[in-house]
Amino acid sequence: MAIERTLSIIKPDATRRNLTGRINAKLEAEGLRIVAQKRLLLTKKQAEAFYAAHRERPFFVGLVAFMTSAPVVAQVLEGDNAVAKNREIMGATDPTKAAPGTIRAEFAENIEANSVHGSDSSEAAVQEISFFFAGIEITG
Ligand code: RTP
Ligand code: MG
Repeated sequence: MAIERTLSIIKPDATRRNLTGRINAKLEAEGLRIVAQKRLLLTKKQAEAFYAAHRERPFFVGLVAFMTSAPVVAQVLEGDNAVAKNREIMGATDPTKAAPGTIRAEFAENIEANSVHGSDSSEAAVQEISFFFAGIEITG
């Protein structure tokens, strides 16, 4: 297995409910290392740019409103197969379909306010990490 990095975001529904520590504990317990982390309030422009791939989707406007409604915690996770591993720990987009024990099964409020984001490919991870972090801010 290869050591990889992936971009994770703890979303507004989770920061609002003080779940950052519990989510981080799960990520670390599963063997992912948090090698960079920052809390920030996204602007509308930033949220639109981050989710640009979803621009044509019916949920785009609501998603941008949600992602700018409270601070998020952006983080770089590192570990064996980090991209797929993090998607596994997160669970399905819709929490009613997420496997028991996953972050979304335990914490998500609904299909939109689903507590976490994770890059869905290694190409997306590289691009999304550079959206939030400069190389000098990431320390393995
Ligand atoms: P993410 O990108 O945030 O890691 O989530 P994902 O891959 O599991 O899901 P994706 O299809 O990429 O959707 C991005 C985010 O948009 C919101 N969403 N809302 N109202 C809806 O039907 C709906 N569908 C998706 C969620 O916040 C989802 O995570
Ligand atoms: Mg996605």
